[in-house]
Amino acid sequence: MSAPKPIAAGNWKMNGLKASAVEARSLVEKVSQQGSGDAEVLICPPFTLLGLFADIFGGTGVTLGAQDCHANASGAHTGDISAEMIKDTGADYVIVGHSERRADHGESDAVVKAKAEAAYRAGLKAIICVGETEGERDSDKTIDVVCGQLDGSIPDDATAETTVIAYEPVWAIGTGKTPTADDVKEVHAAIRDNLVKRFGAAGEGMRLLYGGSVKPSNAEELMSVANVNGALVGGASLKADDFDGIINAYR
Ligand code: 13P
Repeated sequence: MSAPKPIAAGNWKMNGLKASAVEARSLVEKVSQQGSGDAEVLICPPFTLLGLFADIFGGTGVTLGAQDCHANASGAHTGDISAEMIKDTGADYVIVGHSERRADHGESDAVVKAKAEAAYRAGLKAIICVGETEGERDSDKTIDVVCGQLDGSIPDDATAETTVIAYEPVWAIGTGKTPTADDVKEVHAAIRDNLVKRFGAAGEGMRLLYGGSVKPSNAEELMSVANVNGALVGGASLKADDFDGIINAYR
């Protein structure tokens, strides 16, 4: 099977106002002028900017995603946003199970799985996040924790087309700390093994992103690790110049 097409994904988290359209337009310009190598470029802004960014990205080389969805299609869930609503904006992806959702909103693997199923139902691709805390790594539980999250969070009908996995060690998010390339290699190999055992060829084709303090200065090293098929970038995705420096790893 040919190697999965990598993704350079930006997760803007709770950042960005209408004025941030300047960065979105600048990114489109850079990607249209310099291409993105063999990578797909994806930005996941807050819900409030999905419509605006859909207009900016439409027909360009940049795709759009959201950061979370509710499991239901509609109904009495004040303040929530469904996968169908996200699809309706023109987005193609939704992140589910980010560690900040798991921590801030108590989302269990079962909840994350229901959200991934909602994404498939709406015709969105799900980026399902997993990752260990610092304490879990220090007590050598990384592989067990990550594989447990994969088992509990990925729906049985996941395919290589509908599902992307993001490995984000919690202790590396927003801290400037990253695992060594060898550590990333070990965890990504274990993830690939888990996926292939459960999904066969589909597990070979699912893209595995690394996330946690990815910057222009470390992107090339991290993206060249075996079984790393892209990056999920927080802080360094907010400025087009920085994110473009990460896309450079694929040019
Ligand atoms: P940082 O790149 O800011 O560490 O965030 C990573 C992340 O959580 C992306 O989802």
